[in-house]
Amino acid sequence: MIYQIKQHIKFLINSTNQHGVHSPFVFDLVTNCFYDSTKYPEYQNIKDFKNRLKKVNHKISVTDFGAGSTKLKSSERKISDIVKHVSISNKNSKLLFRICKYFQFKNILELGTSLGFATQAMSLGFPNSEIISIEGCPEITKYASNQFQLQQLENIEVINGKFSEIIPKSKHATYNLVFFDGNHTKEATLSYFNMLLPKANNNSLFIFDDIYWSRGMTEAWEIIKKHPKVTVTIDTFQWGLVFFRKEQAKEHFKIRV
Ligand SMILES: C[S@@+](CC[C@H](N)C(=O)[O-])C[C@H]1O[C@@H](n2cnc3c(N)ncnc32)[C@H](O)[C@@H]1O
Repeated sequence: MIYQIKQHIKFLINSTNQHGVHSPFVFDLVTNCFYDSTKYPEYQNIKDFKNRLKKVNHKISVTDFGAGSTKLKSSERKISDIVKHVSISNKNSKLLFRICKYFQFKNILELGTSLGFATQAMSLGFPNSEIISIEGCPEITKYASNQFQLQQLENIEVINGKFSEIIPKSKHATYNLVFFDGNHTKEATLSYFNMLLPKANNNSLFIFDDIYWSRGMTEAWEIIKKHPKVTVTIDTFQWGLVFFRKEQAKEHFKIRV
């Protein structure tokens, strides 16, 4: 926690808005996507989905595969507690929605469905996309799949299994977007990054959640930034965005969102 606060202060000192950005690609992304203040009607769906699950006191049996939450340890968990402790914020769901709308990614892969808030946001952002979302816990997988059916989000396929076992079997040769949102440890993050690197093309985007969650996660982020295939990166504090566009000079941005 102290680590995160210290890193946040550093981030606030070193980050900029669009005015510090000279790259046209990043400037456009920041002004027309990150800072797009349109009140999209889909934001209501994002809010309603979370508000509905916040009230569900039903318990499910949870198998924890990741670094785990610092607050939730027991294997029986209330849906409302999962919403509170391990889910993406509405602010970030909306940003993910705008990112998918802006780039119109066709093939999307998410590591860590949980209850499916991020998956829903990506699905609404570009309904023509095909989203594969992997979740290790069988009960959560079932719960999230039902939620997508209820909302008639038909472009989502949830696969139950460990990331390390499912990724090598994945059917797409390339992914336009990969959202890394499970197992927040240095080793695991680097291992999934290396496994998915061959599936990135020039226009792919990798988003890593919680890059300041721990010293190890920040170390993983620094190693990823240095990778020769990586060109532009954007650090929003919560997320690290990684681009592979060969036409861009290697440059690292810190942007307040
Ligand atoms: C932080 S939550 C994902 C939050 C979610 N994307 C959202 O929108 O709220 C991480 C999820 O990843 C799953 N997970 C973690 N490590 C995993 C692994 N190695 N294989 C499969 N699932 C894993 C956990 O069970 C958990 O549900």
